[in-house]
Amino acid sequence: MLFRRFIGTVAVSVMLLAVCSASAQTSAPIRFIAKSKIFVLDAGNATYVFGVNEQNMLQHIYWGGHVTRDEDFAAAQSFREWASFDLGTTTTPQEYPGWGAGLYVEPSLKVTFPDGNRDLVLHYVDHRVEANTLTVTLKDIGRELFAHLRYTVYAKTGTIRRDTVIENRTDKPVVVENAQSGVFYVPRGGGYRLRYLSGRWAGEWQLNEEPVHTGVKVLESRRGSTSHQTNPWFALDRDGNSDPEHGSVWFGALGWSGSWRISVEETPHQQVRVTGGFNPFDFGYTLAPGEKLETPAFYAGYTDGGIGEASRILHRFERAEVLPNGSGARTRPVLYNSWEATEFNVDEAGQKALAEKAASLGVERFVMDDGWFGQRNTDHAGLGDWYVNAKKFPNGLGPLVQRVHELGMDFGIWVEPEMVNPDSDLYRKHPDWAMHFDGRQRTEARNQLLLNLARDDVREYTFNWLDELVSNNDIAFLKWDYNRNFSEPGWPEVPTDQQKKIWVKFTQNLYDILDRLRKKHPKLEIESCSGGGGRVDLGILLHVEQVWPSDNTEALDRLTIQQGFTYAYTPHIMMAWVTDVPNFNGRSVPLQFRFLAAMQGSLAIGSNLNKWQREDFDLAKQMVTYYKSIRETVQNGDLYRLTPPVDANFKASQYVLPDRSKAVVFAFLHSQQFGRMLPALTLRGLDEKATYSVTVFDGKSRPRGAPIPAELSGAYLMNHGFALPLTGDYDATSIKLERVAD
Ligand code: GLA
Repeated sequence: MLFRRFIGTVAVSVMLLAVCSASAQTSAPIRFIAKSKIFVLDAGNATYVFGVNEQNMLQHIYWGGHVTRDEDFAAAQSFREWASFDLGTTTTPQEYPGWGAGLYVEPSLKVTFPDGNRDLVLHYVDHRVEANTLTVTLKDIGRELFAHLRYTVYAKTGTIRRDTVIENRTDKPVVVENAQSGVFYVPRGGGYRLRYLSGRWAGEWQLNEEPVHTGVKVLESRRGSTSHQTNPWFALDRDGNSDPEHGSVWFGALGWSGSWRISVEETPHQQVRVTGGFNPFDFGYTLAPGEKLETPAFYAGYTDGGIGEASRILHRFERAEVLPNGSGARTRPVLYNSWEATEFNVDEAGQKALAEKAASLGVERFVMDDGWFGQRNTDHAGLGDWYVNAKKFPNGLGPLVQRVHELGMDFGIWVEPEMVNPDSDLYRKHPDWAMHFDGRQRTEARNQLLLNLARDDVREYTFNWLDELVSNNDIAFLKWDYNRNFSEPGWPEVPTDQQKKIWVKFTQNLYDILDRLRKKHPKLEIESCSGGGGRVDLGILLHVEQVWPSDNTEALDRLTIQQGFTYAYTPHIMMAWVTDVPNFNGRSVPLQFRFLAAMQGSLAIGSNLNKWQREDFDLAKQMVTYYKSIRETVQNGDLYRLTPPVDANFKASQYVLPDRSKAVVFAFLHSQQFGRMLPALTLRGLDEKATYSVTVFDGKSRPRGAPIPAELSGAYLMNHGFALPLTGDYDATSIKLERVAD
């Protein structure tokens, strides 16, 4: 039994496994100080403290830089009311406040009991520590409604994970109207700045920076999935107190691929609090007696190394703790994808021809995109009919897969399992499987409807055809797409009080299918795509190796998109294709620029190779070889942004292996004016005592710049730096550094 039953308001059962002696107190990452009833969590260079106050509320005490002396923290003491309008319930920074007793800030939990009572006051019951997880149980002061708050500490990467299990131990159903994972508090005071990522299709990952004022800023998706529009990530710092590599930053991200919400709230008492979890809009989860609801995970971290280190902490954490089966350590293969070359016109001969050309470039994985199944000749038909189109592939997929293998590549394929076109056999057979409200219109997007994956029969059908596809065709990789958001989120087949569970169950079933597929096919790798970057979050990343950040593959736009992406997510998972020109914005940039832009993540090619000239193949081969020599550094190294995000004209980034033995720099000039030379680029993260060999990718002798010396010290590179001789328009280069002497 994980949780002990609450026996009475006074009885407190403490199940404490991790703490015994004073010496254990200083070493264990999770400590309970019995005297002051406080919990001290040490995550990397951060300390997070909360305690049980004199009223038995769980109260936040501290989150910030590492504090080693536990005795420095006094017991939690509830805050006084501010006149009769802001009661202590509101002024006290509660770790997980229920909506009740005059709470006016964002609640963590709001419920309705069947007798109409909607008052919820959560008090401490007990806690336990297992490995690196602390579970603190709270209970309503009157009813058997429990919230089990879990805190997992990742001491190595400096991250904390919070989630909450809500449990109904009453004998009647309870409707949960708002279930948050938890709330994080930054030190009291004003002057905070919020960073977050927003966008739209083909324009995802735009970085926003704005001051936090009194009130609530809501970051959210009400769309049933993560969304292109806002990503569930935030970072807070104090304006003027930090630069890209210095100063305090508090940051976090939600792990949930359904509708989510993060509320950044500054109270009139200058307390900034960040609440995250399920989006309460249209939420209503009926918990039967004995039933539990698990909230999404809300991850957070603190650093005094500026926004740059905040990103690197997340990157390391994602690679080490989030990505499935240790895949964060395996570098991504160079991939070819057929979409922009052939769109729906795929067939055996055409794909074989592309595969041969791709292999000649050094590509390691060949992926056939949309168009291979059912009557899928346009986006008007076929989704749902996951049988191989016999006209395009008269002998099934076998001969193509075999050819791809002969060429030394593995084979991947595009699927969009949660969708159905009304023009499909599946829809004709099971119209009730599509998400809908009875007697209402079914709004199409890209001519398709969503299957109601919350239904178990739809989940099973989906798992079975995917399992069959992968089993029968030696498929190493799935590009899993999702090209629209929820509309008419009905589930008329279940009782009315169960229908809103669709917001939770849909995503849970998605994760379930992914997990079972992976378990059955341990070598299978999966990419999360949603018309570009519509489903990238720490929830889906537990189940997939990589993601597609945007359908916009235009290299200049991509520099901004990729830079935004890496605030929250590691370049390791960031697929980046080299595609043809002219592209978005009608822009044409040279192939070298396009390759170097894509090399800042996980390199792939999506060009129509049938149109390439000899010189394109020659350059591409050289580029792929170069990428293979630096990909470990790019994918598993530390990322430094060398130029500010606002400078659209010149962008540079640097990646350094953790042992500082290798580094690589990418630099991109949009357009030179007035013959201006670029300022010196000073590098980061190197060993200042070491000497590095410095190799400029193209080795071109530049018209005006002095050549960069072949060897330089880390100290020189980081303090003096070098001016890159980029000239003209769309000039780009890369520089490789390797330690040659300590
Ligand atoms: C989405 C994806 C594209 C491509 C098409 C296929 O838009 O983001 O990369 O796979 O679907 O229909």
